[in-house]
Amino acid sequence: MNNSINVLRILSRVEQLAHCSEQADGMTRVYLSSEHRMANERVLEWMNEAGMTCHVDAVGNVVGRYEGLSPGLPSLVLGSHLDTVRDGGRYDGILGVLAAIECVDVLNAQSQRLGFAITVIGFADEEGVRFQSTYLGSRAVAGVFDAELLQLKDAQGMGLGEAMREFGLNPEKIHEAAMDRQAVLAYMELHIEQGPVLERELLPVGVVTGINGAARYAVTFKGEAGHAGTVPMVGRRDALAAAAEAIVWIENLALNTPDLTATVGAIRALPGALNVIAGQVEFSMDVRSAHDAIREKAQKAIEQELNNLCDRRHLSCHITLLQSTKATACAGWLQAQVASAISVEGHKVRYLPSGAGHDAVMMNQLTDVGMIFIPCLRGISHNPRESVTSHDVQVGCEVLLRFISQFKALGENHD
Ligand code: GLV
Ligand code: MN
Ligand code: MN
Repeated sequence: MNNSINVLRILSRVEQLAHCSEQADGMTRVYLSSEHRMANERVLEWMNEAGMTCHVDAVGNVVGRYEGLSPGLPSLVLGSHLDTVRDGGRYDGILGVLAAIECVDVLNAQSQRLGFAITVIGFADEEGVRFQSTYLGSRAVAGVFDAELLQLKDAQGMGLGEAMREFGLNPEKIHEAAMDRQAVLAYMELHIEQGPVLERELLPVGVVTGINGAARYAVTFKGEAGHAGTVPMVGRRDALAAAAEAIVWIENLALNTPDLTATVGAIRALPGALNVIAGQVEFSMDVRSAHDAIREKAQKAIEQELNNLCDRRHLSCHITLLQSTKATACAGWLQAQVASAISVEGHKVRYLPSGAGHDAVMMNQLTDVGMIFIPCLRGISHNPRESVTSHDVQVGCEVLLRFISQFKALGENHD
Protein backbone atom coordinates (compact mmCIF):
# COMPACT_ATOMS: atom_id res chain seq x y z
CA MET A 1 0.00 0.00 0.00
CA ASN A 2 1.29 3.40 -0.88
CA ASN A 3 1.08 5.05 2.50
CA SER A 4 3.47 6.69 4.87
CA ILE A 5 3.44 4.35 7.85
CA ASN A 6 6.52 5.44 9.75
CA VAL A 7 7.89 2.28 11.33
CA LEU A 8 10.93 4.03 12.74
CA ARG A 9 8.66 6.42 14.59
CA ILE A 10 6.68 3.51 16.03
CA LEU A 11 9.83 1.70 17.14
CA SER A 12 11.28 4.86 18.64
CA ARG A 13 8.04 5.34 20.60
CA VAL A 14 8.26 1.74 21.80
CA GLU A 15 11.71 2.58 23.18
CA GLN A 16 10.46 5.77 24.82
CA LEU A 17 7.68 3.87 26.57
CA ALA A 18 10.17 1.19 27.61
CA HIS A 19 11.81 3.88 29.75
CA CYS A 20 8.55 4.32 31.67
CA SER A 21 9.46 1.34 33.81
CA GLU A 22 9.89 0.55 37.51
CA GLN A 23 13.39 -0.74 36.85
CA ALA A 24 16.02 0.59 34.46
CA ASP A 25 17.12 -2.84 33.21
CA GLY A 26 13.68 -4.29 32.47
CA MET A 27 10.07 -3.47 31.81
CA THR A 28 7.52 -3.21 34.58
CA ARG A 29 4.68 -0.74 34.34
CA VAL A 30 1.72 -1.45 36.55
CA TYR A 31 -1.64 0.25 36.90
CA LEU A 32 -1.77 3.64 38.63
CA SER A 33 2.00 3.87 39.09
CA SER A 34 4.14 6.89 38.30
CA GLU A 35 5.35 4.95 35.22
CA HIS A 36 1.73 4.58 34.13
CA ARG A 37 1.31 8.34 34.44
CA MET A 38 4.49 8.97 32.39
CA ALA A 39 3.35 6.58 29.66
CA ASN A 40 -0.09 8.22 29.53
CA GLU A 41 1.52 11.62 29.10
CA ARG A 42 3.63 10.45 26.17
CA VAL A 43 0.68 8.75 24.49
CA LEU A 44 -1.49 11.85 24.93
CA GLU A 45 1.20 13.89 23.15
CA TRP A 46 1.34 11.44 20.25
CA MET A 47 -2.43 11.30 19.92
CA ASN A 48 -2.50 15.08 19.83
CA GLU A 49 0.16 15.15 17.14
CA ALA A 50 -1.94 12.69 15.14
CA GLY A 51 -4.87 15.10 15.13
CA MET A 52 -6.95 13.48 17.86
CA THR A 53 -8.74 15.12 20.74
CA CYS A 54 -7.73 13.13 23.74
CA HIS A 55 -8.05 12.70 27.48
CA VAL A 56 -7.38 10.31 30.33
CA ASP A 57 -10.71 8.71 31.21
CA ALA A 58 -12.19 7.95 34.61
CA VAL A 59 -10.30 4.66 35.05
CA GLY A 60 -6.94 5.92 33.73
CA ASN A 61 -7.12 4.85 30.06
CA VAL A 62 -5.83 7.26 27.43
CA VAL A 63 -8.56 7.89 24.88
CA GLY A 64 -8.14 9.78 21.59
CA ARG A 65 -10.81 10.57 19.05
CA TYR A 66 -10.36 11.35 15.36
CA GLU A 67 -13.56 12.74 13.91
CA GLY A 68 -15.04 11.43 10.67
CA LEU A 69 -16.57 13.38 7.80
CA SER A 70 -18.79 15.17 10.28
CA PRO A 71 -18.44 15.52 14.04
CA GLY A 72 -20.08 13.03 16.38
CA LEU A 73 -20.25 9.98 14.09
CA PRO A 74 -20.14 6.51 15.68
CA SER A 75 -16.62 5.21 15.95
CA LEU A 76 -14.46 2.28 15.09
CA VAL A 77 -12.50 1.63 18.30
CA LEU A 78 -8.84 0.59 18.08
CA GLY A 79 -6.43 -0.08 20.89
CA SER A 80 -4.62 -2.33 23.29
CA HIS A 81 -2.97 -1.96 26.70
CA LEU A 82 -0.14 0.16 28.07
CA ASP A 83 0.59 -1.83 31.23
CA THR A 84 3.05 -4.73 31.40
CA VAL A 85 3.61 -7.83 33.47
CA ARG A 86 6.57 -7.81 35.88
CA ASP A 87 9.75 -7.84 33.85
CA GLY A 88 7.73 -8.13 30.66
CA GLY A 89 8.36 -7.17 27.07
CA ARG A 90 8.10 -3.85 25.31
CA TYR A 91 5.62 -4.80 22.57
CA ASP A 92 2.87 -6.72 24.38
CA GLY A 93 -0.08 -4.31 24.21
CA ILE A 94 2.01 -1.24 23.52
CA LEU A 95 2.44 -2.04 19.83
CA GLY A 96 -1.31 -2.15 19.27
CA VAL A 97 -1.76 1.32 20.72
CA LEU A 98 1.14 2.80 18.75
CA ALA A 99 0.03 1.10 15.51
CA ALA A 100 -3.44 2.58 15.88
CA ILE A 101 -2.02 6.08 16.53
CA GLU A 102 0.25 5.70 13.50
CA CYS A 103 -2.69 4.81 11.25
CA VAL A 104 -4.61 7.87 12.43
CA ASP A 105 -1.50 9.98 11.90
CA VAL A 106 -1.34 8.84 8.27
CA LEU A 107 -5.03 9.64 7.69
CA ASN A 108 -4.61 13.02 9.35
CA ALA A 109 -1.48 13.87 7.34
CA GLN A 110 -3.48 13.16 4.19
CA SER A 111 -6.46 15.14 5.53
CA GLN A 112 -8.57 12.03 5.13
CA ARG A 113 -11.85 11.86 6.99
CA LEU A 114 -13.90 8.69 6.89
CA GLY A 115 -17.59 7.94 7.19
CA PHE A 116 -17.03 7.12 10.86
CA ALA A 117 -14.89 8.40 13.71
CA ILE A 118 -11.91 6.49 15.09
CA THR A 119 -11.36 6.11 18.83
CA VAL A 120 -7.93 4.91 19.94
CA ILE A 121 -7.59 3.61 23.51
CA GLY A 122 -4.43 2.86 25.48
CA PHE A 123 -5.94 0.64 28.19
CA ALA A 124 -4.58 1.23 31.67
CA ASP A 125 -4.67 -2.27 33.10
CA GLU A 126 -4.98 -5.43 31.10
CA GLU A 127 -2.46 -7.66 32.84
CA GLY A 128 -3.93 -7.34 36.32
CA VAL A 129 -0.49 -7.35 37.96
CA ARG A 130 -1.15 -4.88 40.73
CA PHE A 131 -4.67 -5.81 41.88
CA GLN A 132 -4.80 -9.42 40.64
CA SER A 133 -7.75 -8.63 38.42
CA THR A 134 -7.34 -8.29 34.68
CA TYR A 135 -8.90 -5.92 32.14
CA LEU A 136 -9.74 -3.12 34.58
CA GLY A 137 -9.37 -0.52 31.80
CA SER A 138 -11.47 -2.28 29.18
CA ARG A 139 -14.05 -3.39 31.77
CA ALA A 140 -14.74 0.28 32.46
CA VAL A 141 -14.99 1.20 28.76
CA ALA A 142 -17.29 -1.75 28.12
CA GLY A 143 -19.49 -0.63 31.02
CA VAL A 144 -18.97 -3.84 33.02
CA PHE A 145 -16.72 -2.58 35.81
CA ASP A 146 -18.18 -4.08 38.98
CA ALA A 147 -17.94 -1.62 41.91
CA GLU A 148 -16.89 -4.55 44.15
CA LEU A 149 -13.54 -4.49 42.36
CA LEU A 150 -12.76 -1.29 44.27
CA GLN A 151 -12.28 -3.45 47.39
CA LEU A 152 -9.27 -5.18 45.82
CA LYS A 153 -5.94 -4.51 47.50
CA ASP A 154 -2.43 -4.48 46.11
CA ALA A 155 0.52 -6.27 47.73
CA GLN A 156 1.10 -3.29 50.04
CA GLY A 157 -2.53 -3.38 51.21
CA MET A 158 -3.57 -0.26 49.30
CA GLY A 159 -7.14 -0.48 48.01
CA LEU A 160 -7.95 0.06 44.34
CA GLY A 161 -10.25 2.99 45.16
CA GLU A 162 -7.55 4.64 47.27
CA ALA A 163 -4.91 4.10 44.55
CA MET A 164 -7.24 5.67 41.99
CA ARG A 165 -7.71 8.73 44.19
CA GLU A 166 -3.97 9.01 44.73
CA PHE A 167 -3.53 8.95 40.94
CA GLY A 168 -6.06 11.79 40.62
CA LEU A 169 -9.04 9.69 39.53
CA ASN A 170 -12.43 9.54 41.20
CA PRO A 171 -13.62 5.92 41.62
CA GLU A 172 -17.20 7.14 41.91
CA LYS A 173 -16.97 8.31 38.32
CA ILE A 174 -15.78 5.08 36.74
CA HIS A 175 -19.10 4.73 34.91
CA GLU A 176 -18.13 7.84 32.92
CA ALA A 177 -15.46 5.80 31.12
CA ALA A 178 -18.14 3.55 29.59
CA MET A 179 -18.77 4.06 25.88
CA ASP A 180 -22.29 4.26 24.57
CA ARG A 181 -22.88 1.08 22.54
CA GLN A 182 -24.87 3.01 19.93
CA ALA A 183 -21.77 5.13 19.31
CA VAL A 184 -19.46 2.16 18.68
CA LEU A 185 -19.23 0.22 15.40
CA ALA A 186 -16.63 -2.41 16.34
CA TYR A 187 -13.35 -2.96 18.20
CA MET A 188 -10.12 -3.98 16.44
CA GLU A 189 -6.84 -4.75 18.23
CA LEU A 190 -3.43 -5.37 16.71
CA HIS A 191 -1.14 -7.42 18.97
CA ILE A 192 1.95 -9.58 18.83
CA GLU A 193 1.03 -13.26 18.58
CA GLN A 194 2.94 -14.30 21.73
CA GLY A 195 3.22 -17.76 20.18
CA PRO A 196 5.26 -19.42 17.44
CA VAL A 197 2.76 -20.05 14.62
CA LEU A 198 3.22 -17.08 12.29
CA GLU A 199 7.00 -17.00 12.63
CA ARG A 200 7.25 -20.73 11.92
CA GLU A 201 5.22 -20.26 8.74
CA LEU A 202 7.18 -17.14 7.74
CA LEU A 203 4.00 -15.05 7.74
CA PRO A 204 4.02 -11.37 8.75
CA VAL A 205 0.40 -11.20 9.83
CA GLY A 206 -2.61 -13.30 10.84
CA VAL A 207 -6.37 -13.07 11.43
CA VAL A 208 -7.39 -14.00 14.96
CA THR A 209 -10.41 -16.30 15.18
CA GLY A 210 -10.99 -16.09 18.93
CA ILE A 211 -9.46 -15.79 22.38
CA ASN A 212 -9.19 -18.68 24.82
CA GLY A 213 -11.27 -18.61 27.98
CA ALA A 214 -9.24 -18.35 31.18
CA ALA A 215 -9.62 -18.94 34.91
CA ARG A 216 -7.26 -17.54 37.53
CA TYR A 217 -6.93 -18.81 41.08
CA ALA A 218 -5.16 -18.09 44.34
CA VAL A 219 -4.48 -21.29 46.32
CA THR A 220 -3.28 -21.61 49.92
CA PHE A 221 -2.08 -24.85 51.54
CA LYS A 222 -1.65 -24.72 55.31
CA GLY A 223 0.37 -27.34 57.15
CA GLU A 224 2.72 -26.95 60.09
CA ALA A 225 6.11 -25.27 60.20
CA GLY A 226 8.83 -27.12 62.08
CA HIS A 227 12.54 -27.76 62.47
CA ALA A 228 14.11 -29.16 59.30
CA GLY A 229 16.56 -31.25 61.30
CA THR A 230 14.43 -32.67 64.08
CA VAL A 231 10.92 -33.37 62.76
CA PRO A 232 10.88 -36.91 61.34
CA MET A 233 10.10 -37.17 57.62
CA VAL A 234 7.09 -39.36 58.21
CA GLY A 235 4.14 -37.38 59.47
CA ARG A 236 5.36 -33.94 58.44
CA ARG A 237 2.72 -31.47 57.25
CA ASP A 238 4.98 -29.82 54.68
CA ALA A 239 2.95 -27.36 52.61
CA LEU A 240 5.72 -26.85 50.04
CA ALA A 241 6.19 -30.55 49.30
CA ALA A 242 2.41 -30.77 48.87
CA ALA A 243 2.43 -27.80 46.50
CA ALA A 244 5.23 -29.40 44.47
CA GLU A 245 3.14 -32.56 44.10
CA ALA A 246 0.10 -30.48 43.13
CA ILE A 247 2.01 -28.47 40.54
CA VAL A 248 3.33 -31.55 38.79
CA TRP A 249 -0.17 -33.08 38.84
CA ILE A 250 -1.59 -29.92 37.23
CA GLU A 251 1.14 -29.92 34.59
CA ASN A 252 0.45 -33.57 33.75
CA LEU A 253 -3.27 -32.92 33.43
CA ALA A 254 -2.62 -30.18 30.89
CA LEU A 255 0.02 -32.26 29.08
CA ASN A 256 -2.53 -35.02 28.66
CA THR A 257 -5.55 -32.89 27.78
CA PRO A 258 -5.69 -31.52 24.24
CA ASP A 259 -6.40 -27.77 24.01
CA LEU A 260 -5.71 -27.11 27.68
CA THR A 261 -2.99 -25.05 29.33
CA ALA A 262 -2.50 -24.90 33.09
CA THR A 263 0.24 -22.91 34.78
CA VAL A 264 1.41 -22.22 38.30
CA GLY A 265 3.40 -19.04 37.77
CA ALA A 266 3.83 -17.62 41.27
CA ILE A 267 4.53 -19.29 44.58
CA ARG A 268 5.40 -18.15 48.11
CA ALA A 269 6.47 -20.43 50.92
CA LEU A 270 6.21 -19.32 54.55
CA PRO A 271 8.07 -18.76 56.73
CA GLY A 272 10.53 -19.26 53.84
CA ALA A 273 13.74 -20.37 55.49
CA LEU A 274 16.31 -23.00 54.58
CA ASN A 275 16.03 -24.89 57.86
CA VAL A 276 12.27 -24.63 58.39
CA ILE A 277 9.56 -26.93 57.03
CA ALA A 278 7.16 -24.70 55.09
CA GLY A 279 4.00 -24.26 57.14
CA GLN A 280 2.11 -22.39 54.45
CA VAL A 281 2.31 -22.03 50.70
CA GLU A 282 0.42 -19.68 48.45
CA PHE A 283 0.41 -20.17 44.72
CA SER A 284 -1.36 -18.94 41.61
CA MET A 285 -3.05 -21.04 38.98
CA ASP A 286 -4.00 -20.12 35.42
CA VAL A 287 -6.16 -22.52 33.39
CA ARG A 288 -7.08 -21.83 29.74
CA SER A 289 -8.73 -23.38 26.75
CA ALA A 290 -10.47 -22.39 23.54
CA HIS A 291 -13.28 -24.69 24.68
CA ASP A 292 -15.14 -23.68 27.81
CA ALA A 293 -16.27 -27.27 28.51
CA ILE A 294 -12.66 -28.54 28.51
CA ARG A 295 -11.53 -25.72 30.80
CA GLU A 296 -14.43 -26.13 33.21
CA LYS A 297 -13.92 -29.90 33.43
CA ALA A 298 -10.21 -29.38 34.13
CA GLN A 299 -10.97 -26.78 36.80
CA LYS A 300 -13.24 -29.24 38.62
CA ALA A 301 -10.63 -32.01 38.38
CA ILE A 302 -7.88 -29.75 39.70
CA GLU A 303 -9.98 -28.47 42.60
CA GLN A 304 -10.84 -32.04 43.57
CA GLU A 305 -7.24 -33.23 43.32
CA LEU A 306 -5.91 -30.37 45.43
CA ASN A 307 -8.48 -31.11 48.14
CA ASN A 308 -7.73 -34.85 48.07
CA LEU A 309 -4.01 -34.27 48.17
CA CYS A 310 -4.32 -31.92 51.15
CA ASP A 311 -6.59 -34.39 53.00
CA ARG A 312 -4.03 -37.12 52.46
CA ARG A 313 -1.23 -34.91 53.80
CA HIS A 314 -3.33 -33.47 56.64
CA LEU A 315 -3.19 -29.94 55.30
CA SER A 316 -5.95 -27.43 54.83
CA CYS A 317 -6.66 -26.21 51.32
CA HIS A 318 -8.24 -22.88 50.32
CA ILE A 319 -8.94 -22.32 46.65
CA THR A 320 -10.15 -18.89 45.54
CA LEU A 321 -11.31 -18.33 41.99
CA LEU A 322 -10.09 -14.82 41.23
CA GLN A 323 -11.73 -14.53 37.86
CA SER A 324 -12.92 -16.49 34.91
CA THR A 325 -13.66 -15.43 31.36
CA LYS A 326 -15.32 -17.55 28.70
CA ALA A 327 -13.78 -18.05 25.28
CA THR A 328 -14.39 -15.04 23.03
CA ALA A 329 -15.08 -15.36 19.31
CA CYS A 330 -13.82 -12.71 16.92
CA ALA A 331 -16.81 -11.66 14.80
CA GLY A 332 -16.96 -13.38 11.41
CA TRP A 333 -17.67 -10.13 9.57
CA LEU A 334 -14.57 -8.49 11.12
CA GLN A 335 -12.41 -11.54 10.38
CA ALA A 336 -13.57 -11.30 6.76
CA GLN A 337 -12.60 -7.62 6.55
CA VAL A 338 -9.18 -8.28 8.11
CA ALA A 339 -8.67 -11.19 5.70
CA SER A 340 -9.58 -8.93 2.78
CA ALA A 341 -7.14 -6.25 3.98
CA ILE A 342 -4.37 -8.89 4.24
CA SER A 343 -5.07 -10.16 0.70
CA VAL A 344 -5.20 -6.67 -0.78
CA GLU A 345 -1.83 -6.01 0.85
CA GLY A 346 -0.49 -9.08 -0.94
CA HIS A 347 -0.08 -11.53 1.95
CA LYS A 348 -1.36 -15.01 2.63
CA VAL A 349 -4.39 -15.14 4.89
CA ARG A 350 -3.72 -17.30 7.94
CA TYR A 351 -6.38 -17.74 10.63
CA LEU A 352 -5.25 -18.57 14.16
CA PRO A 353 -6.63 -18.51 17.70
CA SER A 354 -5.19 -16.54 20.61
CA GLY A 355 -3.97 -18.39 23.68
CA ALA A 356 -3.38 -15.09 25.48
CA GLY A 357 -6.07 -12.81 26.85
CA HIS A 358 -6.65 -9.36 25.37
CA ASP A 359 -8.76 -6.27 26.00
CA ALA A 360 -10.93 -7.53 23.13
CA VAL A 361 -12.38 -10.03 25.64
CA MET A 362 -13.98 -7.24 27.68
CA MET A 363 -14.69 -5.03 24.66
CA ASN A 364 -16.79 -7.91 23.34
CA GLN A 365 -19.31 -7.05 26.09
CA LEU A 366 -19.78 -3.75 24.28
CA THR A 367 -19.38 -4.55 20.60
CA ASP A 368 -18.14 -7.07 18.03
CA VAL A 369 -14.38 -7.54 18.18
CA GLY A 370 -11.58 -8.55 15.85
CA MET A 371 -7.82 -8.90 16.13
CA ILE A 372 -4.74 -8.83 13.91
CA PHE A 373 -1.60 -10.67 14.98
CA ILE A 374 1.97 -10.09 13.91
CA PRO A 375 4.74 -12.56 14.82
CA CYS A 376 7.22 -12.08 17.62
CA LEU A 377 10.64 -13.68 17.88
CA ARG A 378 10.29 -17.40 18.71
CA GLY A 379 6.89 -16.60 20.15
CA ILE A 380 8.56 -15.28 23.30
CA SER A 381 6.44 -12.88 25.34
CA HIS A 382 5.96 -11.80 28.96
CA ASN A 383 9.71 -11.72 28.90
CA PRO A 384 12.20 -8.86 28.32
CA ARG A 385 13.45 -10.78 25.26
CA GLU A 386 10.19 -10.11 23.43
CA SER A 387 11.13 -8.89 19.95
CA VAL A 388 9.59 -8.06 16.57
CA THR A 389 10.97 -7.18 13.13
CA SER A 390 10.39 -3.77 11.61
CA HIS A 391 9.13 -5.55 8.47
CA ASP A 392 6.36 -7.30 10.40
CA VAL A 393 5.43 -4.07 12.19
CA GLN A 394 5.23 -2.35 8.80
CA VAL A 395 3.01 -5.06 7.35
CA GLY A 396 0.81 -5.17 10.46
CA CYS A 397 0.26 -1.41 10.31
CA GLU A 398 -0.39 -1.48 6.58
CA VAL A 399 -3.01 -4.17 7.10
CA LEU A 400 -4.57 -2.20 9.95
CA LEU A 401 -4.64 0.95 7.84
CA ARG A 402 -6.12 -0.95 4.89
CA PHE A 403 -8.72 -2.47 7.22
CA ILE A 404 -9.64 1.01 8.49
CA SER A 405 -9.82 2.49 4.98
CA GLN A 406 -12.04 -0.34 3.73
CA PHE A 407 -14.08 -0.67 6.92
CA LYS A 408 -17.79 -1.13 6.52
CA ALA A 409 -19.96 -1.37 9.61
CA LEU A 410 -22.12 -4.46 10.07
CA GLY A 411 -25.11 -4.22 7.73
CA GLU A 412 -23.49 -1.68 5.39
CA ASN A 413 -23.36 -2.71 1.76
CA HIS A 414 -20.20 -4.33 0.49
CA ASP A 415 -19.57 -3.86 -3.20
C1 GLV B 1 -2.44 -11.44 29.33
O1 GLV B 1 -1.39 -11.18 28.78
C2 GLV B 1 -2.73 -12.82 29.60
O2 GLV B 1 -3.16 -13.52 28.68
O3 GLV B 1 -2.47 -13.29 30.71
MN1 MN C 1 0.43 -9.71 28.34
MN1 MN D 1 -1.22 -8.08 25.77
